[in-house]
Amino acid sequence: MIAVAIDGPAGAGKTTVARGVAERLGWRYLDTGAMYRAVALAAVGAGVDPADEAAVTALATDLAIEVEGDKVLIDGRDVTPDLRRPEVTNASSIVSTYPGVRSVMVDHQKRMAGAGGVVVEGRDIGTVVLPDARVKVFLTASLDERAARRTRELALDRSSDSARMKRAIATRDRSDSERSVSPLVQADDAVLIDSSTRSIDEVVDEIVGLVRAAEGPG
Ligand code: DC
Repeated sequence: MIAVAIDGPAGAGKTTVARGVAERLGWRYLDTGAMYRAVALAAVGAGVDPADEAAVTALATDLAIEVEGDKVLIDGRDVTPDLRRPEVTNASSIVSTYPGVRSVMVDHQKRMAGAGGVVVEGRDIGTVVLPDARVKVFLTASLDERAARRTRELALDRSSDSARMKRAIATRDRSDSERSVSPLVQADDAVLIDSSTRSIDEVVDEIVGLVRAAEGPG
């Protein structure tokens, strides 16, 4: 399938890089993490405990999530600004461990990827959602660098908050990597890119180069 799958841990730069690659190629971009965040937000909003697997799974099954470019709609309402709230981030790493939630989301993501021409970002894209993606990238960076980037992104006070951020990211890494269904693992045929000491542009260039090489001459 003519698609780029970008997987990797939280804070590795997937979103910025995936958007950059999509823009350079003139392809669509799909952020699958935003869909798990939407399930988490819907649960929090409905007063459903994120730890209640049966209730969250039922809610995810009935939820009308639409992704339109950078916007996420739940039942037609734009919820994008709420998806990055800290309690939603925490709940998303819990609800994304539930097999029933994942199967609904994966079906939806496969449909949205359609015939291709899409850059899809997540944790299980190269392994589960688009195992036939033409280019697969596993984007990572050191824990220190990922925590520093997130702290900057959220404009937090560096000295007081980067240690806390590091702990929060390490906890999410563990939850993403140790869950029994589709844990975060590098696909056998994925190219490993470590962005710790590289600029966004360099990483985007490398991935666009991989796509051009996969397309072959002409
Ligand atoms: O990429 P993100 O931080 O927006 O993802 C939010 C949560 O969803 C995170 O805990 C990992 C999870 N996730 C997942 O399990 N599978 C995906 N394809 C994308 C995200």
